[in-house]
Amino acid sequence: MISSFIKTSKKNGISSLPKKHGLYIQLISIHGLMRAHNLELGRDADTGGQIKYVIELAIALGKHPDVERVDLLTRQVFSNKLDPIYAEPIEPLAPGVNIVRLACGPKRYLRKEVLWPHLDSFSDAALQHVKKIGRIPDLIHSHYADAGYVASSISSLLSAPMVHTGHSLGRVKRERLLEKGIRSRNIETQYALTQRIEAEEMALDNAAAIIASTKQEVEEQYELYDNYTPKRISVIPPGVDLTRFSPPSSHNKRTKIAATLARFLKDPDKPMVLSISRADPRKNIATLIKAFGENKRLREKANLVIVAGERDDIMTMEKTSRRVLQEMLFLIDYYDLHGSIAYPKKHRADDVPDLYRLAAKTKGVFINPALTEPFGLTLLEAAASGLPIIAPNDGGPRDILRHCKNGVVIDPLDSKKMSAQILKAISRPDVWQQWSVNGMAGVKQHYTWQGHVDSYIHMVKNKINKHQQATRTVVAKSKLATAERLLICDIDNTLIGDKAALSQLTSQFEKMDGKVAFGIATGRTIQSTLRELKKWDAPIPDVYITSVGSEIRYGMRLTEDLGWQQHNDYRWRPNEVYEAMREFSGLKLQHSGEQRRHKISFNVDPKKAPKIKEIRQFLRQRDIHVKLIYSHEAYLDILPIRTSKGTAVRHVAMKWGFPLDQVLVAGDSGNDEEMLSGNTLGVVVGNHSPELAKLRGRELIYFAEDEYAKGVLEGIKHYGFLNKNRAQ
Ligand code: GLC
Ligand code: MG
Repeated sequence: MISSFIKTSKKNGISSLPKKHGLYIQLISIHGLMRAHNLELGRDADTGGQIKYVIELAIALGKHPDVERVDLLTRQVFSNKLDPIYAEPIEPLAPGVNIVRLACGPKRYLRKEVLWPHLDSFSDAALQHVKKIGRIPDLIHSHYADAGYVASSISSLLSAPMVHTGHSLGRVKRERLLEKGIRSRNIETQYALTQRIEAEEMALDNAAAIIASTKQEVEEQYELYDNYTPKRISVIPPGVDLTRFSPPSSHNKRTKIAATLARFLKDPDKPMVLSISRADPRKNIATLIKAFGENKRLREKANLVIVAGERDDIMTMEKTSRRVLQEMLFLIDYYDLHGSIAYPKKHRADDVPDLYRLAAKTKGVFINPALTEPFGLTLLEAAASGLPIIAPNDGGPRDILRHCKNGVVIDPLDSKKMSAQILKAISRPDVWQQWSVNGMAGVKQHYTWQGHVDSYIHMVKNKINKHQQATRTVVAKSKLATAERLLICDIDNTLIGDKAALSQLTSQFEKMDGKVAFGIATGRTIQSTLRELKKWDAPIPDVYITSVGSEIRYGMRLTEDLGWQQHNDYRWRPNEVYEAMREFSGLKLQHSGEQRRHKISFNVDPKKAPKIKEIRQFLRQRDIHVKLIYSHEAYLDILPIRTSKGTAVRHVAMKWGFPLDQVLVAGDSGNDEEMLSGNTLGVVVGNHSPELAKLRGRELIYFAEDEYAKGVLEGIKHYGFLNKNRAQ
């Protein structure tokens, strides 16, 4: 990267370019390890293809004339076993493009399956980032389920459109594991698939567009989801970095990797049959060795080169890779392939382009014998290097071969035919030449990052236009604008219930000289809220979040937050909800005063009513996208997909500039859950209802012993929230 091109603005240390008024795009990719130089691809299961994809996308987007700024948000990791760069809050990636690392849960590296409980704090850190740089992104693009979860929440809070790329999908993975005979309980403990699938459904629900790499991904994978809407999915295949992957030329010097292979091969100039993959059973390396070993003519004519990840000591590797490598070594010995097979132990990232070129130079072929191949980036890299390809008859290869016409598909289970195909590919010089030329041309035409980004920007631009920033209401002289901290209380069973405790809370409050603003967040309507607060002689709120977060009002004049109303209109079609909900017994509409513009509420008979999960699925299958909130085992609220007390509290905090660690929220029941989670200071009162018990032990959620307002006071004391000199 040409870092001297990057100007650093003093305020926030972020590189920026003078390109004005262009798009600001936020990419989110949370797990794995990302840095600007020498990606550690293959270091573990989470640092692989997605990482490379996202980095290359970020760089390519930065080059587009309509794009001013790209922030790639990822998780910050502190570990003395890792490169300290992974702890740096900001790392320039290209002009106008930065990796931004946000704190999320524990400091150490975590695999993606255990990140779920920490994602709310990633969202909040992302909002703080937005506040710091003072600009709301024009587009938020999430990668993988975890980021989809985060983007669903922040895109709704920021009123920015969201785009999602799955990379791989939980429902597909679950099917594969079940097919293998793994028990569903074991699948759950190892892969946390329920959360992953739920997050994927959520992302599909919220995203204005989904980007897939192949047609098959749309037709066979996304199709498994309740929220499958094919017209929102665009197939835009990723690109190949053509500056790295290019055909051999006469100037290419003898490379390091050629020297490595020469240690294995008797005649290194024979056509090279090359395969590059991780040491994973699905990659089916054994069948390839059999195919080669069993075919005498092929053995005479060609060399086999197998790059199966990297290794130090096979004996100490984890079981699945160890088995794959052991089998590879046994087969080499069994067929006695010494002298005509190379299987290098190590290679550098820079050796990979050289490997393809070397294979092309010998008029060899690239083979991917994997059992399934949804995409197949290596096939494109080979094609860009002028090396013909052989690959399984599956979605990725089919698309690639349709576009490039540079090889053939095979049945990965049939070793006889596999060897015949390989032999054919290297035995006809004219066909070889045609495939080589076709591959290079096809990649240039269909699989460049520039082409990808052109389609991408074209597609997202009209989504962005539709989504112009919501109008912001400004309220004169509100305490909200000057206070340092914000206290938000639920009303029923939290603020009210114990009169003496409430008046104690009120008097504590009055001592704070306007340093702390006060708000309520309730399921009640605004009218009944005002009545109830008066009856209990509660402090007068600066902000009213009512009807389960669907309405926000400020100050004495009860000024409505119109931006919030607009935000709630997103995908809200109440008539369809009323219609669909007639299907269920055990649910009775609450009285008409409780039915609001953005809230539909039922009383629930838990004995007769279906499970919330079933209702959710039923609605999704009808393309109805809403939020369901169950409280006190008695109420069901249906809200617009982006609405809850939690998003409302965050909207208020963002708008008025309260960092979330200066916001204390107190509640007792299910509709309080979202506002209690994440980076706000949460307090659950002692008399809480059972549905909140699951929050016990979460970071920043304090379970008070005392009940009602006493519990709130206990929580305030716990956090030192009303201490005058509380550190900011
Ligand atoms: C309040 C509301 C009601 C809602 C319930 C749970 O009781 O009046 O409509 O269903 O809170 O959020
Ligand atoms: Mg309550």
